[in-house]
Amino acid sequence: MTTSRLAKAHGNFADRNPESRRHYEAARAHLPGGHTRTVLTHAPFPLVFASGQGSFLHDVDGHTYIDMLGDYTAGLLGHSEHRVIDAVTTALKTNTSVGGIHPAEARLAKLMCERFALDRVRFTNSGSEANLMAITTATQATERNKIMVFHGGYHGGLLYFASGAAPWNAPYDFVIAPYNDAPGTSALIAEHAGALAAVVMEPMLGSGGCVPADAEFVQQVFADARGAGAVTIADEVMTSRHGARGMFALLGVQPDIATYGKYLGGGFSFGAFGGRAELLDQFDTSPETHRSKVVAHAGTFNNNMSSMTAGCVVLSDVYTSEVAIAHTARGDDFRESVAAVLAQSGLPVSVSGFGSMMSLHALASPPRTAVDVALRDNELQELLFFGLLERGVYTAARGMMNLSLPLGDDQLSAVLDALTDTLMRVKD
Ligand SMILES: Cc1ncc(COP(=O)(O)O)c(C=O)c1O
Repeated sequence: MTTSRLAKAHGNFADRNPESRRHYEAARAHLPGGHTRTVLTHAPFPLVFASGQGSFLHDVDGHTYIDMLGDYTAGLLGHSEHRVIDAVTTALKTNTSVGGIHPAEARLAKLMCERFALDRVRFTNSGSEANLMAITTATQATERNKIMVFHGGYHGGLLYFASGAAPWNAPYDFVIAPYNDAPGTSALIAEHAGALAAVVMEPMLGSGGCVPADAEFVQQVFADARGAGAVTIADEVMTSRHGARGMFALLGVQPDIATYGKYLGGGFSFGAFGGRAELLDQFDTSPETHRSKVVAHAGTFNNNMSSMTAGCVVLSDVYTSEVAIAHTARGDDFRESVAAVLAQSGLPVSVSGFGSMMSLHALASPPRTAVDVALRDNELQELLFFGLLERGVYTAARGMMNLSLPLGDDQLSAVLDALTDTLMRVKD
């Protein structure tokens, strides 16, 4: 239901963005919904961007925004990071599409294994594909079929569990466990023990509202899963940015397989899955390996020049483990400042998250599960989004904010001012 306050916010937005509307309406003739990323949909229509520099975005109507979304974590480096662009430009001038092996692939594999404590890694084109391949790794290794996931989890377009399993998901035999509920999950693992191939978990529900997992919950679930002979799969597609080795390491567990994506491709399509040698070596099809069973993993663009080259620059030059540790701490500090601003407003609003990823919620206290997230006041949530947009701050419509590296302290204080002002207006 659209209330009069929301209708006014939508109307103001539409008045300010005629070019975005024109573009969106024209695009709908060929693109269902006007684009190819469901997450970008919001009423009355999404903004269309012309360009970006550093931590700023410019839309087609001439507005400039502080980019607080950071492309749902893929934009960690900000816009047009010159070290990545220079390296990829040079690489593409040498060879665009190899159809064979090139050194950047093995270089990136070594960097990833060293950084994230993996024995072996394989590349894909997206985080979705990485998770599908990780699940295949587990089903092939265990010769079992059941996959445990968590309510509110998201592991890609075909692995969507916002409120149960979506009907369009890949056809696995899913068991959906309650997030942040160790006894409930332990009971389900015990019930399905003989059939469970894998337990797949995000250390923080990312799309589900930046809801971090409790360390005890993760440790208990991973121990139980191992006890049941299931493979533990850590979805670090968003969260590998935290700390020196990703968020699961900070929670005190080492998964059997972890999956990666987003910022690691430096702006190019990217995915990877890696972990224990015994599991990953199922994909070793080299002639000298006389395995009784090998699993194929094909993909034209798995080792594409742009993503491999960019990934090397990201890990070796731009987002080193020292930078990652500092960025995580900076995110924690900023989230505390956001929480202070929200608390002063007296409105039922809160912030959840970890490190440089966070979400605003129209809820009196931060959610611990996706069930809590679903209780948000939708009108207030939307008013926050439009209020921030009007004040030049771009976030996800659902409230997500991710700090990119080029965001300066002055921009972060401008965001806090915009939030304070928005809350005051909403309260009036
Ligand atoms: C935790 C998680 N896993 C997997 C994916 C899918 O990655 P991609 O969009 O690259 O397919 C996402 C994307 O948002 C994600 O947040």
